[in-house]
Amino acid sequence: SFAAEAYRPRIHYTAADTWINDPNGLVHIDGIYHLFFQNNPFGKDWGNMSWGHAVSRDLIHWQDRPIAIPCDQDEQVYSGSAVLDKANTSGLGSPGSSPLVAVYTSAYSQASARHGIQAQSLAFSLDGGETWTKYDGNPVLDRSSPHFRDPKVFRYKGPSGEYWVMAAVEAIDRKVVLYRSDNLKDWTYLSEFTSTSPVVTMWECPDLFPLPVDGDPANTKWVLIVSLNREPGEGGSAVIFFVGDFDGLVFTPDGGPGTANPDQPEWEWLDHGRDYYATVSYNDAPDGRRILIGWMNNSDYSGSVPTTPWRGAMALPREVTLHSHGSRFTLRQRVVEGLEPAGATQTHGLRDVPDGLHPLNLSVGEDPVLIEAVFDAGSSAEFGLVLRQGGREETRVVYDTVREQLVVDRRSSGHGSFGQSFPSKETAPVQLIGGRLALQLYVDVASIEAFAQGGLVTVTEQIFASPSSTGLSLYSANGTAQLISLKFTPLKEAPI
Ligand code: FRU
Repeated sequence: SFAAEAYRPRIHYTAADTWINDPNGLVHIDGIYHLFFQNNPFGKDWGNMSWGHAVSRDLIHWQDRPIAIPCDQDEQVYSGSAVLDKANTSGLGSPGSSPLVAVYTSAYSQASARHGIQAQSLAFSLDGGETWTKYDGNPVLDRSSPHFRDPKVFRYKGPSGEYWVMAAVEAIDRKVVLYRSDNLKDWTYLSEFTSTSPVVTMWECPDLFPLPVDGDPANTKWVLIVSLNREPGEGGSAVIFFVGDFDGLVFTPDGGPGTANPDQPEWEWLDHGRDYYATVSYNDAPDGRRILIGWMNNSDYSGSVPTTPWRGAMALPREVTLHSHGSRFTLRQRVVEGLEPAGATQTHGLRDVPDGLHPLNLSVGEDPVLIEAVFDAGSSAEFGLVLRQGGREETRVVYDTVREQLVVDRRSSGHGSFGQSFPSKETAPVQLIGGRLALQLYVDVASIEAFAQGGLVTVTEQIFASPSSTGLSLYSANGTAQLISLKFTPLKEAPI
């Protein structure tokens, strides 16, 4: 049995004593970031799905608020989004007051005449998100489909006009369906988007948003994010993205077979780890920033992660930007600012890393820490960091110079028998830059978020190591690498 609060995250949002999954209704209003989320208000297992609520000024320190949109006997309240309806297009506000409108999926229960159907519904708040009323004309969009869910609504302004756009999924058909509306209540079909790869069981939680290319507001591309579930044993849940264009009607990806841009892959992983799912972005973040939050979990084993009395946590919020390399586009993700150091940064300078493990006089245990390391590959075949070492436990974050891959190996990270697919070794394609690898690791009590080459590649993983596994070593195999620099910064807890 586990100590009451073993594995309680120190710098990640989690509920006090209940289950959470997807982030929902991410919206920024008047200096406040709202985080709604899939929540079972009554326990630490999935069920009774309702929207829980927390607020923050910096995306790091969160304050819990009362349940926002509860399930009732007719429906569970599945994932969705929220918009500030400034001009009161919905008429749900009153003159001079803009309603906050949530668009969520009604998953109808046995008691409902619509049992078995998923349709889109509204709830609105006239007090800045504190209290909510379900719209009495729900649902507002019903395709008589059992798998139509996860509406992301945003304000579109472009050549074809200004209106609300909804991206949702037909989950089993693996399609994103787009609709438009002038009032959030009446929706008109626009188009659908699908892709042949990769082979999965379903699509969930889409998001569609513009990003300036290399920061140039005159040159915009659109990014479509899709969460997907693979066949059992294939890795569980993960998120992919497409880069392309959206003309207000149709999303057209840049890459893939038969497209104008053969350099651009049709799709890419948003994160190469096992624990980054249902990722969506904020509406109305300040200064045009695009900020993502993912659920730091995997549907393969999310129901059995060994935490109590809560289950589920959010990954650290990340700002995402788009960059061009010739005709190819890449995304870069960086953790938002706001984490505070809990002490002085300790540094290690230039040194050789010959074959083997070389323990550093630094300890990584339950207290959160940011490790920033730059390596030169030298003659090494594989080099990097081994952390949370103790007894037989270790987690590896290393670079394979032959395969040109970042490898995160948590097969011996600690407790992992709760989920068949939990013990895993992830690989992600990474190019050295001038022979060098830059790594940033945000390490919390039960997770590692690895950012390589300034956030071009990320790997998010839960680990359940023993408190006594605190070793941190430099590592090389078949040759000598060089550590250029290592910075070790203890981080302050950001309690819920
Ligand atoms: C993704 C998901 C969504 C759904 C919600 C229900 O994790 O399955 O598709 O709306 O969770 O909790």
